[in-house]
Order: sequence, then C-alpha cells, then structure tokens
Amino acid sequence: MATSCYVHIPFCDDICTYCDFCKIYKKSGNVLKYLNALKQEIQKYYRGEALKTLYVGGGTPSSLSLSELKQLFQILDIFVKEEQIEYTVECNIESITREKLLLFQQYGVNRISIGIESVDEKSIQLLGRHHTKKQVEDVIHMVKEVGFTNINVDLMYAFPWQTKSSFLNDLSFFCSLKVPHISTYSLILEEHTVLYQKKLEPIAEELDLWMYQKIEETLKELGYHHYEFSNFAMPGYESNHNLVYWNNEKYYGFGLGASGYIDSIRYQNTRSILKYVSGIPRLEEHQLSKKEEMENECILGLRKMEGISKERFLKKFHIPIEEVFPIQKLKEKQFLEEKNGYLYIPEKYLYISNEILLEFID
Ligand SMILES: C[S@@+](CC[C@H](N)C(=O)[O-])C[C@H]1O[C@@H](n2cnc3c(N)ncnc32)[C@H](O)[C@@H]1O
Ligand code: SF4
Repeated sequence: MATSCYVHIPFCDDICTYCDFCKIYKKSGNVLKYLNALKQEIQKYYRGEALKTLYVGGGTPSSLSLSELKQLFQILDIFVKEEQIEYTVECNIESITREKLLLFQQYGVNRISIGIESVDEKSIQLLGRHHTKKQVEDVIHMVKEVGFTNINVDLMYAFPWQTKSSFLNDLSFFCSLKVPHISTYSLILEEHTVLYQKKLEPIAEELDLWMYQKIEETLKELGYHHYEFSNFAMPGYESNHNLVYWNNEKYYGFGLGASGYIDSIRYQNTRSILKYVSGIPRLEEHQLSKKEEMENECILGLRKMEGISKERFLKKFHIPIEEVFPIQKLKEKQFLEEKNGYLYIPEKYLYISNEILLEFID
C-alpha cells in the first residue's frame, strides 16, 4: 500500500553543466512515445490507492508544450487522489507560462517547485542556465498572481567560483521572493557533467560550511522552519511528499530512472529511453532485509531536524531502537540528543551528519 507517487518527466530544453539527473533533450516525437510508455507502466503497477502526494519531477516537466502537458495530466488522472492531496509540478523559469499554470490548476496541481539556483550573471552562465533576475521576479509574480500559494524555489551554492558577496546577493534575492519553501543544494561536482570535466576544484569546506550557516541563520530570522538538513519552510508549508521519503514510507516511482519503495522492495527504473519506451521500465528490484529497513528508517529520519520517533520505530520493527543501534554511545559523544521521544542530531553537528550516520549503522 502506497499513498505517494513520484512521476519522472526526463525532458529538458537544455542541459545544465552540473546536472547528473536522469534527463534528455526534448524532441516532440519522443515525448509522445514516452507518455505512452508512462501510461502503460502506471496501468501495470498502480493498485488504485488514493494518493496523498503526487510529485511530477524531472528533468523539466514544464518544458512540455501545452498539448503534451494535457496528455500527461490525462494520464495522471488514472490516479485516485485524496481531496487534500499535495500535487507538485517541477518547473524552470524559462518554460513556465500563464497558460501552463492555468492548466496545472485545472488538473488539481497545488504546489509549484521552481529551479532557480542563482541570479548571479557569472553563475547563471557557468551553470548553463539562461534566465535573468528580472525574468525570475516576473515568473514568481505570475505564479502567485495565478493563485498558487504553495511555492518552492531551489537555491544552489558552493560554486567553485562563488565569492561570499555573490553568495550573499543570491541569498538575499531568494529571501526577497517571499515564497514559503526554499530547498538548498550545495553543488556536487558529479562525474559525467561538464563542470566535472573542467576539473574545477570544489570550494573549501570551511566556506561551504559558512554558506550553509548563513542560509540557516538568515532563513530562520525570516521565520522559515529548518525542518530537514537542506530544506526550509514557513510553518505548514513543509513538503509532504519529501517527508514521505524521510519518514521511510512507501511510494510509487514511475517514469525513466524513477525509483520506488513498495512492499519492502526498493526498485529502480532503467535510464535507457529505448528500453523504457519499448515497455521494459524496471532495471532492478531489491528485497530489503529487516536490518536494511531499520537502517533506512534511521538514515533517512535523521535528516529531519525533529529526528526519529522511538515509538514509531518500536511499532514498526517490534524492537527498541537502543537494542539495534549504538544510541547511548552517540548520546555520550553528544552526536545524538533526545526530546519528547525523538532522537535527533543537534543542529551544530548536522554538517557532519554523514560521519555520524556511519557510526550509527556500524
Ligand atoms: C530536477 S532539478 C529541478 C527542476 C528543473 N529541472 C530545473 O533545473 O529547474 C532539481 C534540483 O536539483 C539540484 N541539483 C541538480 N544537480 C545538482 C548538483 N550537481 N549539485 C547540487 N544540486 C543539484 C538543483 O537545485 C535542481 O534545481
Ligand atoms: S538541472 Fe534541471 S533543467 Fe538542468 S539539466 Fe538538470 S533537470 Fe534539466
């Protein structure tokens, strides 16, 4: 039983220099074939549960034309949706139009997530993006004017060429947009990307940490709730869909390169568009052991500021968490704290949470 669903639309108008996501250049003929294959996959695997969250991500879903989007939403109408569903579509600045936003609304979309990343001219150019600051302001204004209130924007930082002052300019611009959710991403120089091939040095760890702390301090002052390692929301605007991942709950994943988690099985779809459109979506399935399920519960849950619920762990796995993981040892080192039955990594150690998690599952 899963009440959340991710649908991947891999098409992009252009490919950014840092991106290792599952994406392909958009060609109209491909889109139609892709949508057909997507429909088949959904019809084959979806069992009819009413969805609480539906997330259409990419790639760039908004790069589809109006008529392609109509076909996509007709396919997504296969899903039964709860009345209070959180229904998100990922967009980028260049491809959002008023008509597309109105169409989204017509099909019940109520959350828009926009990849902005930066408004610094040098960064925009080196990241291979194409918007201007003015375009960003206009698009955010239009999204609000059309009636969307639940809006996320993505902010990237820690570019090899980024100075403290250009970072602070980006941060204050993002704050000025007055949107209720901001996802932040420290740049990862992924293999197989243009930036990686340029052999750029990542920025110093201290500078990365300084930027992370500045984001946290600034957004908190403005009233954002730091609810997950790199996500900030005004109260009530936390992403329900992403919380499903961090709470280690089940979800469907449909589309090229998508992954899902159903019945103790984590599956991964192929990244080959040829295989996908010929009706072979699954690449691999992995049946999780109880130990792996327990590890995932903690690794994912500790990304949240509130941490993991001891009671929930006991209910789910029928064993106290202390009997499985070295909780006491980590508490003594102050890497873990406990409040109201929740175990969490204190904010000052979040930045080294990967090291703490390794110790946790060792
Ligand atoms: C699928 S993209 C967002 C939607 C849309 N494709 C766009 O780019 O506007 C998801 C987000 O992941 C982040 N991201 C992608 N590649 C990254 C990388 N190498 N390092 C850090 N963040 C990255 C970016 O912030 C991006 O907005
Ligand atoms: S960052 Fe977004 S727009 Fe850029 S290539 Fe990746 S998925 Fe496409």
